[in-house]
Amino acid sequence: MEKKLRQAQGNWVDGDRFWGRENDLAILTRMIDEGAHISIVAQRRMGKTSLMKELAGRLSDRYICLYLDLQEENAPADAVAALAMILKPHESLWRKTKALFSNVLHAVSGTVEEISVSDIGIKLRSGLDAGNWMDKGDELFRILSKSEKPVLLMIDEIPLMVNRMLRAGDEGITKENITNVDRFMSWLRKNSIEHQGKIRIILSGSIGLEPVLHQAGLSAVINNYQPYDLKPWDFETAADCLRALANNYEIEYEDDAELVMVEKLGCCIPHHVQIFFSSVYTMCMHRKNMRFRADEVRDLYEREMLGLRGHAELTHYEERLSLYFSKERLPLVKAILTETAVSDILTKPVLLVLRDEYTAQDECPDEALAEMLRILQHDGYLARKKEGYVYESGLLRDWWKKAHEEFYTRRK
Ligand SMILES: Nc1ncnc2c1ncn2[C@@H]1O[C@H](COP(=O)(O)OP(=O)(O)OP(=O)(O)O)[C@@H](O)[C@H]1O
Ligand SMILES: [Mg+2]
Repeated sequence: MEKKLRQAQGNWVDGDRFWGRENDLAILTRMIDEGAHISIVAQRRMGKTSLMKELAGRLSDRYICLYLDLQEENAPADAVAALAMILKPHESLWRKTKALFSNVLHAVSGTVEEISVSDIGIKLRSGLDAGNWMDKGDELFRILSKSEKPVLLMIDEIPLMVNRMLRAGDEGITKENITNVDRFMSWLRKNSIEHQGKIRIILSGSIGLEPVLHQAGLSAVINNYQPYDLKPWDFETAADCLRALANNYEIEYEDDAELVMVEKLGCCIPHHVQIFFSSVYTMCMHRKNMRFRADEVRDLYEREMLGLRGHAELTHYEERLSLYFSKERLPLVKAILTETAVSDILTKPVLLVLRDEYTAQDECPDEALAEMLRILQHDGYLARKKEGYVYESGLLRDWWKKAHEEFYTRRK
């Protein structure tokens, strides 16, 4: 029987909504079995969180798999409280955790089991501050290292927390902020080394961790993690995914429409494949005809992927530039992206023209320009070719062009 796949709902997928990635799962499993700490590197929406969730599902018989999301956390004490909280479903670990925080957990009336989960979180957090998070965190790691099965600790969105810490206050990246990030990352590093073999750590996030740390001169604090580069799907996997989705929703492609869709995307980021299919499905449902023809792809792409649906997804790419780049730098960064979108390729002479136009030269020396391009490449905006820079994703290029070309004059 032909394979079927259900559409993604919400953020990440696993189980019967998870497609492909068998090779990635096999390689990561081998690395984990060898005791490696890993940093999953990929641009937005590549499926990092889904991959970690799926890995947890497949490895849970051999490992205690813990998923820690630091998206909302601002400080090390928050992170340690969140780490304590995720131990709650694991009985023996939770018993020891309760003992570690008995001062705050005993202070509430009734047994811990009767208090709501959010109240426990608040209590735990109240027992942690800038002075004791490190010791309590060390204790938690010790508890983990003594568990009956080895632990796989997956920490998602660590770059968002670190980035927030670096820019805490109104004065940008201060020395004090750098020191705080250094203490936190070094603490994690110390524990990862101390408990190597018992605990494996996977780091990931929707923005790159290395570029964030690099800005603070702290890249070395992650050199004990092996980078794992999660790639877009190849054309075959993406086309198979579109077929499996179509089978589940009774859509029929005519004249290999799915192959034309894949070619149109160029770079098959799983999320983009899913939203493309979802536009096909919605259109077919509306017109009550479930046959989708190859000659309809182009129009649908323009209307949906570059229209409102795509716009909502892709504005992320624009907004997050301000996470990395200062207000002063942003106009140049955006001009670089617009020039590349309208000209298809950004050559070095044009790049230098833009720099001169948008900044006084001493404000953006060659090193700063190189750093800027490094971040844009690391985070999946641009790729470097022999002749210059081009967009990694055709969809991002088309969308950026549509949004910005109207009032822009090419510099060529
Ligand atoms: N293996 C997969 N099978 C099917 N769909 C997937 C897969 N991986 C990712 N997707 C699609 O991409 C979407 C985003 O996935 P996910 O949240 O895991 O990506 P991410 O890389 O963690 O994103 P972010 O950068 O925003 O954190 C999912 O909702 C789903 O539509
Ligand atoms: Mg994610």
